[in-house]
Amino acid sequence: MTHILNKQVSQKKILITGGAGFIGSHVVRKFVTTYPAYKIYNLDALTYAGNLENLRDIENQDNYTFIKGDITDDTFIMNLFETEKFTDVIHLAAESHVDRSIADPLAFAKTNILGTMVLLQAFKKLWQDDWKNKRFYHVSTDEVYGTLGESGLFTETTAYDPNSPYAASKASSDHFVRAYGETYGLPYVISNCSNNYGPNQFPEKLIPLFINNIIEKKPLPVYGDGNYTRDWLYVLDHAIAIDKVFHTGVNTETYNIGGFNEWKNIDLVKVLCDQMDEKLSRTKGESQKLITYVKDRPGHDLRYAIDANKIKNKLSWEPSVTFEEGLSQTIDWYLNNSIWLKHVTSGAYKTYYDKQYNK
Ligand code: NAD
Ligand code: TYD
Repeated sequence: MTHILNKQVSQKKILITGGAGFIGSHVVRKFVTTYPAYKIYNLDALTYAGNLENLRDIENQDNYTFIKGDITDDTFIMNLFETEKFTDVIHLAAESHVDRSIADPLAFAKTNILGTMVLLQAFKKLWQDDWKNKRFYHVSTDEVYGTLGESGLFTETTAYDPNSPYAASKASSDHFVRAYGETYGLPYVISNCSNNYGPNQFPEKLIPLFINNIIEKKPLPVYGDGNYTRDWLYVLDHAIAIDKVFHTGVNTETYNIGGFNEWKNIDLVKVLCDQMDEKLSRTKGESQKLITYVKDRPGHDLRYAIDANKIKNKLSWEPSVTFEEGLSQTIDWYLNNSIWLKHVTSGAYKTYYDKQYNK
């Protein structure tokens, strides 16, 4: 019995998409280092958000292969699946930033909807006569549920009600994954996670953007009145949750993943400013002076908050890091990785920044 199990484990060939991005790179590292018997393939198109510098420490591991490619290229993807015969997919590749989705919604439909369908088609074509020990894991977001008022939490049964083009594209991709399960019996699992933060996040999202601006003493552009609420989870805890869901989640089920950690943007920004002042040996209150209220994001969702009790109770997962610890580690990482930050904020980043913040 043990022998058969081991054989199944060693035959696992897992395709992780978007593994050069923020969350994907932490997931790739976790799987490569925790499961030496698995073969891990990281497929990434290396868009502005993909960066192989995120994976320098594991790139020479025997069980790791990087493949540069686009999930929307159906001929390439079909050939790749036929050649490599991946037993499992952990799908993270996406366009992921709400502000960019407002500027260019079609790019989000293409990658997030069409790209997911191309992967589903390839997986189906390869395994439809033999679904045993196969799994398609779709990594999604809590933004599919739309917005909450001042109270309440998103559960796995909350109706989808996406507001931004990003959220709509992710909601659509979730529906297609479910439809392939219902229609073709494709073995899938989905998780919907709250806002992540941590090392390697591209400085277009709130926390790394503001860390970078504080370092450079640039204005901190708070949208609207700053009274928007998000539930924050440290990225390594998300990677641990993905490992749990992949290995012990039940097919056709959804798992909400969150930090039990709600913050109003403006309160979070003030804590960030204070921690940064301390670490940079600046006078307390100096960075808060950089806070600048700017024009609101169109269709800005008021509040996201996740009820993560299902994954906590059924899969024994809960966040391991407090927000204060996670934020402190995140700031330290950015301060210690100024070359990484310099690389990703050069070139095209400046064009994006100037356009987004009307410079
Ligand atoms: P990211 O933008 O940092 O990384 C996305 C990665 O996908 C990049 O490496 C990029 O090169 C790659 N990619 C984009 N288009 C591609 C294509 N056509 N073909 C192949 N690769 C492509 O995103 P992230 O924040 O790491 O998010 C990863 C996943 O997790 C996404 O599916 C996102 O919806 C989901 N998610 C993110 C958060 C969050 O707070 N960041 C929260 C919940 C869920
Ligand atoms: P973001 O990190 O873009 O994640 P999401 O929109 O997916 O939740 O934004 C987090 C919150 O911070 C959101 O309410 C928008 C706000 N925000 C700002 O106030 N200013 C900014 O420059 C950015 C990027 C975000």
